[in-house]
Amino acid sequence: MYCFSGSPDTNITVQEDDDVILPCLFVSSVNIESMKFDWKKKGTLLQKEVFLYDNGSYYNNGLHGQDEQFKGRVSHFSKELRNGNASIRINKTRLEDSGLYTCIFPDLQPERKIFRIELVVGASPKPYVTILKNKGQLQCEVPGAYFEPTVQWWDSDNKTLPSKTLKDQKENGLFYVIIQSTSPKPDCYRCVTTQMDIWHRISSEICVHEEPNTGWTFVAGVAVGVAGVVVVVVLVRCYIKKKEVSLIYL
Ligand SMILES: *[C@@H]1O[C@H](CO)[C@@H](O)[C@H](O)[C@H]1NC(C)=O
Ligand SMILES: *[C@@H]1O[C@H](CO)[C@@H](O)[C@H](O)[C@H]1NC(C)=O
Ligand SMILES: *[C@@H]1O[C@H](CO)[C@@H](O)[C@H](O)[C@H]1NC(C)=O
Repeated sequence: MYCFSGSPDTNITVQEDDDVILPCLFVSSVNIESMKFDWKKKGTLLQKEVFLYDNGSYYNNGLHGQDEQFKGRVSHFSKELRNGNASIRINKTRLEDSGLYTCIFPDLQPERKIFRIELVVGASPKPYVTILKNKGQLQCEVPGAYFEPTVQWWDSDNKTLPSKTLKDQKENGLFYVIIQSTSPKPDCYRCVTTQMDIWHRISSEICVHEEPNTGWTFVAGVAVGVAGVVVVVVLVRCYIKKKEVSLIYL
């Protein structure tokens, strides 16, 4: 009776905090405005109610029973219904939104049609950057990324600094990484975390204002000192010369 377009089994991967559209589609000619469709999420024991639409009524608009997790975050596309589009949008995805979703048309005959969508919400925390005092060392810490990250220190020309890895561990499904690099010069450096699985890149910047090597600071200080002494000697000499000149005139 009804045909469905596209594959019912879809995998979607997003980044924590992003919005996501979960697709559920009839062929474009079927108007579903007066029909019923129900979005559920598979739970450990019970299914969670994500979104229910029934002939113009839906959660927060005549219907009750939506799971707390999704309250105020899920919407449908009312203008798309006449095109057979029962897709929903989940705003600001959270890690716990990961899981298996189904879009069901319970009243359809001869059989109920079900779309299955697997959603993976991955964590990509901003790296935490510090300058270790007296060492000229830049430290970058990734506190728990869901997809395996590549972590690098880049200078202002986007050149990668050599670095050493202090930690690279997977705990409870999350990746924890700490790397250190030596800043070769005063510059602004970025610690760049790249997660190839989701084409995601995030970075934190830190600026080094002083020469990183204390030896250089000392040499620079001595140089300023020497220059100062030279200036003083020249001035004194001029002063003495002037005095001599004045004495002659006296
Ligand atoms: C949908 O609601 C309208 C009133 O808004 C009603 O006339 C119609 O019979 C309903 N259709 C179904 C399938 O329940
Ligand atoms: C269904 O509607 C959503 C939201 O407007 C849109 O992003 C998506 O492309 C639509 N799907 C189709 C097949 O038109
Ligand atoms: C470094 O990369 C950033 C984007 O990641 C870009 O905006 C910037 O212009 C690049 N800088 C240089 C010097 O290439």
